[in-house]
Amino acid sequence: MAAMTRAIAVRSWPAPDERRRRFIPALPTLWPGLLSPLAAERPPPFPLGAPGTTRFYFARNAVFHGVRLLGLAGREVLVPAYHHGVEIAALVAAGAVPRFVRVDARMRLDLEDLVAKIGPRTGAVYVIHYAGFPQPMDDVRAVATRAGLPVIEDCALALLSAEGTRPLGSTGDLGIFCFYKALPVPNGGALVVNATGLASAPPRPVAAPLVSTLSHAAGALVANAAFRLGEAGEAIRAVVRGTYRALRGASGLKPVSTGTSTFDPGAVHLGMSGLSEAIARRVDAAAIVAARRRNYFLLLGRLRDRVPPLFAEVPAGVSPLFYPLLCDDKAAVKARLAARGIETVDFWRNGHPLCAADAFPEVAALRRRVLELPVHQDLSPEDMAFIARCVKEALT
Ligand SMILES: Cc1ncc(COP(=O)(O)O)c(C=O)c1O
Repeated sequence: MAAMTRAIAVRSWPAPDERRRRFIPALPTLWPGLLSPLAAERPPPFPLGAPGTTRFYFARNAVFHGVRLLGLAGREVLVPAYHHGVEIAALVAAGAVPRFVRVDARMRLDLEDLVAKIGPRTGAVYVIHYAGFPQPMDDVRAVATRAGLPVIEDCALALLSAEGTRPLGSTGDLGIFCFYKALPVPNGGALVVNATGLASAPPRPVAAPLVSTLSHAAGALVANAAFRLGEAGEAIRAVVRGTYRALRGASGLKPVSTGTSTFDPGAVHLGMSGLSEAIARRVDAAAIVAARRRNYFLLLGRLRDRVPPLFAEVPAGVSPLFYPLLCDDKAAVKARLAARGIETVDFWRNGHPLCAADAFPEVAALRRRVLELPVHQDLSPEDMAFIARCVKEALT
C-alpha cells in the first residue's frame, strides 16, 4: 500500500498544467560574442595577470605542483574532511599524507580541531572556501603562523570571490584556482605563489590539447543555444552532441575531460588553453559577481522559509558559485528539477577513500543532503523565480 501511494505521488508530479520546461544549465554557457576578435578586452580577473601565477589545465595540477613546491612529500597536510576528492588525490600523488580536520554542519572549518591535529609530521594547512564563501583566513593564518606552517588556500569554488576587498587566494602561501566552474572557458586552473623565498618555481606547463579545448568550447556554445533558443536550441544541442559522440567513437580521440573526480598523472603538466585565456580576458568580472550575488539573494529570499539556508548572508566581496540546498532526498529533488529542465549537481556525494566517512558525521550529512542550484551570470531574475518555484514543488 505504501509503495502504491508512493508510485501515485511520483506519477502525479508535476501537475499536468504545470509541465513548463526551461533549460537552465548548471554552468555558465559560452556566448558567441565572447569569441569575437572585436570583443573588448578588460583587465583580467584575479589571479590572471597577477605575479606568481602559473596557468594549468585544471586546479588539480596546481595542487600537485604546489605540494611539490612546498616540499611536502612524506609530510602530513591538514585537509578538511569536507572535500571534493580529486584535490586529495592530487596531494597524495605528490607524496603528501592527508590528515582530516572536522568541518561543521555549516561548512566551517573547525579551528580547534585544526590546532589539535598539528603534530611533528605536519607540513601544511589546506583550506577550502566552499561555494565562494570564505573561511576566516586571518584566524587560519594565525594558527598556521604560530605553528610555522604554510597555508594552501583552495579557491577552486571561489574564483572572483573576496573577503571584503581582499581576493580569496591572495593571502595563503599558495592559492589554487579553477576557472571553468565560474567562467565559460573550456579549461583552466591556476597556482598562485604568494609566499616569498621558495627554493624553486612551478614547471612551465605544456600546451592544452586542441581537440579537448575545441570540444569543450563547442559544448558550452551549444549549451548557450539550448539556454537561449528553447526547444529549437535543445534540438541543435542534441544533434551536435550525437554527432560528437559518433565522431569521437570513430576517431578514437579522447579529449581530456574536466569536472572528473580522478587524478590523471599523465595530464599533470597540461596548461590552460589560449582560448580560455582570451575568453577570461573578455568577461566583465564585476558584472558576473553582481549577477551571482543578486541571483543568490533571489533564491535565499524565496527558499529560506522553506529550508534553513547554509549561508544566510552574502558578506561583502563574496561571489557565490551556487546555492547549496539542503534536501532529505537529493536524488528525487534532482530528478524533479531535471524534469523541468533545471540542471543541478549532486554536490560532493563521496569524499576521498582515505577519509573515514563515519569519523565526521556533519560532513556525512552534508554529502547526503547538499544539492547545488545554479546562480550563475547567465540567469535572469525571472529564471531565479522559475527555479525557486520548481524547487518548492520538488520539495513537496
Ligand atoms: C575544492 C576543490 N579543489 C580542487 C578541485 C579540482 O578542480 P579541477 O577539476 O579544476 O581539477 C575541485 C574540483 O571540483 C574542488 O572542488
